[in-house]
Amino acid sequence: MSRDEILDRLRSEYMGRSLYYYEETDSTNARIGELAGEGAPTGTLAVADMQTAGRGRRGRGWSSPPGMNIYMSLLLRPDIDPSDAPMITVIMALAVCEAVTEMTGGADAQGREDAGSDIPVARIKWPNDIVVSGRKVCGILTEMNMEAGHISGVIVGVGINVNQGERELFPEEIRDTATSLKLECGHTIDRSELIASVMERFETEYERFLSAGDLGFMKERYEQHLVSLDREVRVLDPQGEYTGISRGIDARGELLVETPDGELHRVYAGEVSVRGLYGYV
Ligand code: BTN
Repeated sequence: MSRDEILDRLRSEYMGRSLYYYEETDSTNARIGELAGEGAPTGTLAVADMQTAGRGRRGRGWSSPPGMNIYMSLLLRPDIDPSDAPMITVIMALAVCEAVTEMTGGADAQGREDAGSDIPVARIKWPNDIVVSGRKVCGILTEMNMEAGHISGVIVGVGINVNQGERELFPEEIRDTATSLKLECGHTIDRSELIASVMERFETEYERFLSAGDLGFMKERYEQHLVSLDREVRVLDPQGEYTGISRGIDARGELLVETPDGELHRVYAGEVSVRGLYGYV
């Protein structure tokens, strides 16, 4: 993977075209934060082969060894209400899920999943993760910078475990809950091509979102990839935990959870976990 190789593969109009490549950096989210402060344009992408201080959500770290994975952060400068920003994470999850499914051989370019294939398909664990065979292959960390009540920049950080060939290489605390695309599909994946595919898909959906103002246009497709659809989930709401059946998303990308009394809850804050089925929740 190199800057030139990624640029060579890109098919997007502007996502990733302003490209910064690092053999090693502390965190690509930090790099994009700086570039944003220097006036970098929307679509600016930072990619690293290795991170020394990869950031995860909830103050956790992100294991970032060299030579095998994707660590990238994208800068966006949307003219939207700050309360609409979480929809950007939902769009990125769909873009990564579909790009991964195509590149692992789990679906053709049109997204049709081959029922006869024994390659496990990627699924979205709403809202930030992509899982394969119940294990996490990708995490998304979205950060927002504000100025005088307006969004000055949204930083979408994406970490994908791509070509790690041995489970033992994962830190012990995530060994049972994480996996890589190579471990799941059995072959090496071209990281530059995967980045290009994510950029192309994200650009298309992001433009649709900016025109439409919400995610109604991709709801059905998203739900086809949603790991929890029609399954029991536990909602870790700060006001009190509850369980229900996940019924997909609404046009704002919020998770719909039906409780036993038949009420439909919209989950936009707090955390949803899928009970019993997925090792890392
Ligand atoms: C999570 O906790 O699931 C989110 C992990 C996000 C990791 C990516 S790797 C590229 C970018 N830079 C970071 O420091 N974090 C994100």
